[in-house]
Amino acid sequence: MTAAAVHAFDRDGPAARRLARALGAAFAPIGLHRFPDGESSVSAAPAAAVSCLYSALNRPDAKLAPLLLAADALRRRGADRLILVAPYLPYLRQDRVFVPGQALSRDVFGRAVGSAFDGIITVQAHMHRTRDLDAAFGGRPVLNLSAVTLLAQAGRWNDPVFVAPDIEAESWARAAADAAGGTWTGFRKVRDGDREVRLGPARVDAVRGRQAVILDDICSSGATLMSAAASLRAAGAAGVDVAVAHALFPPVVQARLLGAGIGRILSTDSIPHPTNAARLAPLLAQAGISPLLLASPL
Ligand code: R5P
Repeated sequence: MTAAAVHAFDRDGPAARRLARALGAAFAPIGLHRFPDGESSVSAAPAAAVSCLYSALNRPDAKLAPLLLAADALRRRGADRLILVAPYLPYLRQDRVFVPGQALSRDVFGRAVGSAFDGIITVQAHMHRTRDLDAAFGGRPVLNLSAVTLLAQAGRWNDPVFVAPDIEAESWARAAADAAGGTWTGFRKVRDGDREVRLGPARVDAVRGRQAVILDDICSSGATLMSAAASLRAAGAAGVDVAVAHALFPPVVQARLLGAGIGRILSTDSIPHPTNAARLAPLLAQAGISPLLLASPL
């Protein structure tokens, strides 16, 4: 094992420690002080030449400045090669100018993060209209891992139908069926607003009398999952569960999902959440970070 360490702010301590254990690396907390006016002051312990900064980047507006300050602190403490481990990468849904006058958030965020880190590891990045993630992050290598097998196996479903709520999720539903058995089908989705979606026809006959599992990268407002669940129940599914990589939703949405007839809700621990059912540390350590820390090409 190369000399490496995983650094994280307190709020990310548990997941970052799990990652450090999986890597056989040291863990070191990052210090965060808030001045009375709300500005952050960040301090790092001495850093290994190859270091990771682990950060769950939900609610990113408040986290971006401390993240960039932490990168600087770690460089000053000796990190020559600094990898950001952000299992959830925000702003990737704003991947084009949808309305004239809007900022292109993906590229603004990507350029800022790319300027501070040598590489980025993430999971199930939102790639609807993004072809080249490296380019969006200023040319830095971005390793985008899949949590589909982990999620598909975490549910221990018996002969499920994995359901893609939109065309972009189809490859995940197919991969889930390959990994955990069962079959898959998919909807077509049109988004009308932050909390309004319309789902077009899926081959709903495929779900009659079966356990349906809707698979998505993100649940935020819950509109996508609720709309898919309603169609599946109307089509005669015996049960509807959901599995998402990134649980961005608050408790009120969780209650609404359960109230809409969804049985179980599973998520990865990319964001700490009551629905977490699959830990990412082994995936991150085995599939992604070890080669990165050893400075192999991504
Ligand atoms: C977008 O298409 C994503 O893949 C998700 O389906 C979306 O972000 C879910 O958002 P919401 O829960 O607000 O429908």
